Amino acid sequence: MLRDLAALAASADPAQLGALGAQLRAAGLNARALAAWAGTTRVAALPARLDEMSGDPATPAGAVLALFVACAEVARDRLGGAAATAIDALVACGLIEGDAARLRARIAIVPIGSALLVCDRLDAAIERDLVCWPDDSSHHLASAIPAGRRADWLDLGCGSAFAPLARPELAHRITGIDLNPRAVRYAQLGATLSGISHLTASQGDVADRRSPAELVTCNAPMPDLADAQATSAGSSDPDGAPTTIPGPPDPDGAPTTTPGPPRPDDTSTGASSGASTGASRAARLRGALPEIWRHADAGFFPRLWPALRQAVRPGGLIVVHGACAVMLPALAEAPGERVVVRYTPDGAPGFAIAWWRPDAPARLVSAHRALTAERPHLDPRDRDDALATT
Ligand SMILES: C[S@@+](CC[C@H](N)C(=O)[O-])C[C@H]1O[C@@H](n2cnc3c(N)ncnc32)[C@H](O)[C@@H]1O
Repeated sequence: MLRDLAALAASADPAQLGALGAQLRAAGLNARALAAWAGTTRVAALPARLDEMSGDPATPAGAVLALFVACAEVARDRLGGAAATAIDALVACGLIEGDAARLRARIAIVPIGSALLVCDRLDAAIERDLVCWPDDSSHHLASAIPAGRRADWLDLGCGSAFAPLARPELAHRITGIDLNPRAVRYAQLGATLSGISHLTASQGDVADRRSPAELVTCNAPMPDLADAQATSAGSSDPDGAPTTIPGPPDPDGAPTTTPGPPRPDDTSTGASSGASTGASRAARLRGALPEIWRHADAGFFPRLWPALRQAVRPGGLIVVHGACAVMLPALAEAPGERVVVRYTPDGAPGFAIAWWRPDAPARLVSAHRALTAERPHLDPRDRDDALATT
């Protein structure tokens, strides 16, 4: 399958894929239909929400969402005319498989904003290259970037390119970099299906030297325990290396926390009819993330900070989501303006967004903002408030 998709990413005509993406959006794979079908557009909340949904989709748009978001097996005749005309092309390019009666998506395609994000199915084999479903850290990073159109934007550790796909208007030229080759292929496929031609993705390490950009972002992986312990020595932050991203209160009533590790008897395949594939999507997401996603390699964070500094143009902005245990000690030593807003409650593993302008006058501001149903993720107002109140 991956070889097919690699070939697809390399050889498919971008115009044809873009047209296919437009057909899918018109057929119901869009944020408005997602909200009506699942009760939320918060992609991180979908795995738990999907666990609660059952039954055959009632509408053609629901069938398209069940096929690509729930990754359920869907009867071909449930899809409306708009999707039906795209089926042969989708089969030909390897995005779905099936027979005359039933269809199954080989990868998940999820609406975010006006774009389509590609990641692995929630029941995909747990392996090193797995491209995980976005979690709330993805939302925090994307929503924290201040508005405005820059010349260029570098998203380090881009994964499936959540932030660039959610906010493509933020730069004329966007480059996503990830160590995981499958993530790079999916990020590129998402960009092409979404018709976002100014977003490209390529494989690399965060620390590789590259042309600097006006905006540099990174939703960092979980710290390696050794990095966390090394960098938290002497820090006032009480946290060790955290392991999960807590969910915010959800205005839609979608579940805010996901259960612990998957049960040993978890054999869900995602190939059942209707939208439900068993009661364990959320548990798998939370409990069985592959190492490359969940933990940075030893030395990642010591490499990250100088790399961010090198990657940003003079006068530019760096926005990082990460664990307080590694961010606070590093930024305490860094030059320029550093605003760190932590959103996790005291006693929980600490996560924060840091806005760093290395060339601005030296200033270090640290604040906390409790998440609410109305503001479930950090945003630029948190930076402004932190600067105004300290
Ligand atoms: C927390 S995920 C963030 C993914 C995506 N940016 C998002 O917000 O949904 C961290 C990403 O960093 C990537 N990564 C880990 N180590 C890396 C390295 N040394 N260089 C580049 N990317 C790396 C992982 O493959 C993963 O995609």
